[in-house]
Amino acid sequence: MDTLLRKALRKPTAADTIFLVRDGKDLHHLGFTDDELNYIKRQHRSDHNVVVVNRYKNVLIVAFGETIGTRSIRNEAYRMRGDEAQLQLNKARVERTVVFNVTADKEEVLAFTEGLLLGNYTFGKYKKKNKKKDNTLEQVDIYDNDISEEDLEELRILTEAVFVARDFVNEPVAYLNATKFAEEMQALGKEVNAKVDVFNKKKLESLKMGGLLAVNRGSIDPPTFTIIEWKPKNAQNKKPYVFVGKGVVYDTGGLSLKPTNFMDTMKCDMAGGAAVAGAMYAIARAKLPMYVIGLVPATDNRPDGNAYTPGDVITMHDGTTVEVLNTDAEGRMILADALSYAKEYNPELVVDIATLTGAAARAIGPQAIVGMEAKADDEFEQIKRVGSLSHERIVEFPFWDEYKESLKSKIADLKNIGGVEAGAITAGKFLEHFTSYPYIHLDIAAPAFLDKRSGYRGEGGTGVGVRLFYNFIKSKVE
Ligand code: BES
Ligand code: MN
Ligand code: ZN
Repeated sequence: MDTLLRKALRKPTAADTIFLVRDGKDLHHLGFTDDELNYIKRQHRSDHNVVVVNRYKNVLIVAFGETIGTRSIRNEAYRMRGDEAQLQLNKARVERTVVFNVTADKEEVLAFTEGLLLGNYTFGKYKKKNKKKDNTLEQVDIYDNDISEEDLEELRILTEAVFVARDFVNEPVAYLNATKFAEEMQALGKEVNAKVDVFNKKKLESLKMGGLLAVNRGSIDPPTFTIIEWKPKNAQNKKPYVFVGKGVVYDTGGLSLKPTNFMDTMKCDMAGGAAVAGAMYAIARAKLPMYVIGLVPATDNRPDGNAYTPGDVITMHDGTTVEVLNTDAEGRMILADALSYAKEYNPELVVDIATLTGAAARAIGPQAIVGMEAKADDEFEQIKRVGSLSHERIVEFPFWDEYKESLKSKIADLKNIGGVEAGAITAGKFLEHFTSYPYIHLDIAAPAFLDKRSGYRGEGGTGVGVRLFYNFIKSKVE
């Protein structure tokens, strides 16, 4: 369930309160006893930034901010402390808390609260109802005169959009097949007045989406292709920004079957699609005055009697022929069709986001997104800057044409795998073949899904990309 977020109109008394301060000297006149003050300062000196003071009736928390480093670094420190505070409150079985901002600035309070709310997420759907809830915290009130109802509404929208993406990723394929995924995106669109169209298998056949149809051949469920359009009357751009998300609802590898330990977490293989769905939901719900489109091709990838097969030559949506040499390189097959379809929109920029390669994960791990760019260097700088502010950092990989060499096929225009080296880049170069516009490719194979809890990113689906895309589009608004 979403945490209720409100503005506190009065100074909190006798509540489970978080005091947000920058420094030890900000602690006076807050009602702490001398003993408590000594304790808090001692704890802070030994590197505890979130200190719990237990009273008979209440839990008080002092959260120290960060005063050194860049804005990006400080924002992230506040988010992480919001998460620590949330952990402590849930441990104490607290249901409602007030964040009393003492000396942090507005952006810091919002970052702290963002971390607190994002950290409080749980995916409890499949736990027995009578089981004690993991998290007790249901309501957060903010006491800070600088923060407006609009600020809080944006935070609600953003955190709930991240939860939309996380829920999608955390749902197993037994529930979330391609059809269900499309239906749920349609329902979300309805909620926020975004137009959503879903192409069914017949339509995809008529459009000759050979890549998506090939990957789907081993499945008993049909594929879908979801188009989410946000085109408000006051849009400031004529040519749309297009986001494309990989929607492989489960990746077994197909006939090039994955070993079990690599397959275990592959319900996460639609995390790119989930990020696009979440971001479009946020952009529309916040009514950003920008024309934006989301495209989500979706299917599972399985072995079966009719599954696409190594050696097959597939004719893609744009007519390119592809020799399939590994059915586990399926993401690029379905994204390629979506990328060539995106040409229809004469886009300003297309950004795709995908759990595309183990190579990206091995190269930099879950700390960042691997990014590449073609004809979009200014846009890339901008999305990188936005990403560092929201701590969805992007690391740029080279994207030189020499990397295309390894995609040459003896019998078709391309093969769907490169050599043993630079796998994240050759996958990107494969996709670039299907583009004709300014293009950014983001590989989220590692940060999309975490086996172990990592602060407010949680465990399981992280929703990476949602805040990035929302803030990127927001940064375009004049
Ligand atoms: N979905 C996987 C990539 C992946 C790996 C995502 C680990 C998340 C965590 C993708 O479809 C895949 O299987 N890629 C292959 C490509 C290879 C066959 C060229 C890979 O990276 O091994
Ligand atoms: Mn695969
Ligand atoms: Zn995959």
